[in-house]
Amino acid sequence: MDNRPIGLLDSGVGGLSVAKKVIQKLPNESTVFIGDNAHMPYGDRTREEVIELTRKSVKFLLSKNVKLIIFACNTATAAAMSTIQTEVEPQIIGVIQSGALDAARKTNNKKVAVVATNVTINSHAYAKEIHFRDPEIQVTELAASKLAPLVEARKDHATNLKVVKESLTPLKEKDFDTLVLGCTHYPLIQREFEEAIDNPNVTILDPADQVAQYTFNVMSRDGLFSTSDHQASHEYYTTGNVDNFDKLARSFMANDTLTSKHVDTEN
Ligand code: SIN
Repeated sequence: MDNRPIGLLDSGVGGLSVAKKVIQKLPNESTVFIGDNAHMPYGDRTREEVIELTRKSVKFLLSKNVKLIIFACNTATAAAMSTIQTEVEPQIIGVIQSGALDAARKTNNKKVAVVATNVTINSHAYAKEIHFRDPEIQVTELAASKLAPLVEARKDHATNLKVVKESLTPLKEKDFDTLVLGCTHYPLIQREFEEAIDNPNVTILDPADQVAQYTFNVMSRDGLFSTSDHQASHEYYTTGNVDNFDKLARSFMANDTLTSKHVDTEN
């Protein structure tokens, strides 16, 4: 048994889509979330920059005595997870392996599309993981650099839909029955994805459910569950503007009293 919190990191608010599923799956567990909003988007940075920024968020989470770290960010998972896992003691769980596993299981026609940031797409991490599970699956990868910043900018539905439609245009002529939301910001505009794809035969897949299940499995295997009398608490930190973070986070987490704290990871 281990009453320490689970740490989660993201470049911004997108990782809350993972935090929400983890809290639902593990209601007895405390969490500490850090969004590196001051440095987002990660998706257009170099791999080295993403490693450096992610390392700073990990250092912050370690200062909070976390027992496990979830990279609730596809870009950080693709660019930094293998490097940082060798540097720290707590196990790190990424989002890509879970998303790829889910996609490989769900596709019927063995045709999967992945939409993600430039860094994630250029790493081909999803294609590699999907092919590891089934080499016959055809994977179409699409980089969509405008979408994570769009979520952070809190635009209205019509604006979101227009940008999502433009970003997904290259998928128009492609055949696939499963589309992976390969950036944790995208589930926050899933409705716009559904309207833009407008095809009931396409499953739009948010890896977060599978990430929460995998986290549960790891904690069960490693004896990391909190004691049954543990009072779960949830802390939110941002390197950016607290008011902006809170407005987005309150709506995404359906929690009107959620209040984040500012943290400077540069120190
Ligand atoms: C970004 O910061 O560009 C998006 C993060 C992600 O890939 O989940």
